[in-house]
Amino acid sequence: MKTLFANWKMNPQSEPEAVKLARAEDLKNAVIIPPFPFLGPVKKILKQAPLGAQNVFYEEKGAYTGEVSPAMLKKLGVRYVIIGHSERRRLGEDDAMIAKKVSAATAAGLIVILCVGEPAGIYKKGNRATELFIRKQLRFLKNKKNLIVAYEPIWAIGTGKNAHPEDAARVAQLIKSIISVPVLYGGSTNSKNAKSFLEKKEISGLLVGGASLDAKEFLRMIKIAERF
Ligand code: 13P
Repeated sequence: MKTLFANWKMNPQSEPEAVKLARAEDLKNAVIIPPFPFLGPVKKILKQAPLGAQNVFYEEKGAYTGEVSPAMLKKLGVRYVIIGHSERRRLGEDDAMIAKKVSAATAAGLIVILCVGEPAGIYKKGNRATELFIRKQLRFLKNKKNLIVAYEPIWAIGTGKNAHPEDAARVAQLIKSIISVPVLYGGSTNSKNAKSFLEKKEISGLLVGGASLDAKEFLRMIKIAERF
């Protein structure tokens, strides 16, 4: 059974909506990843799905306005944390910061979903350019404990243009050759294309954005993931 990670991003807009969506998606091969303010309320109602967070800081405590520590997440019952999503890299997170976050979060016992993926300009240059780009993003990794890598080509996120499943499987295999951890695919996945990714042995699950906000669509994807 493969797993679907529901990255809700900055949605939905209220706690009642978040709790309702979490209830609908609370299945054992799903991981629910809501915005920070909804972690507590969502955790309270989940019976099967583990909880994830979308970001974390690398320090344990102190004068870091707006940041949240790995221990704070652990205390809320969070098991997974996304680090290095392209939407955060775009806001200024670089590999050095991402490396610190990964080591602090994994050391605290959180399972990190480290996101990597090339922009459109690199993709257009071909497989070799993509490979070099991904290698560079993974260069800092030393330890595979508590680590999952998500391959999310930036041009495929929220665009309706998913990667070719063969390309995603090839990059997943490359990632595994660098560090042998489970690899997810993310980028415009839905119930129509989920099977084409999930049937690849190199791909252990999907990091789902937009489709995870539609409970019916997400449940259709869950049913597909149960078959693999
Ligand atoms: P979409 O599924 O909306 O393309 O988002 C993918 C993503 O960024 C998951 O982290």
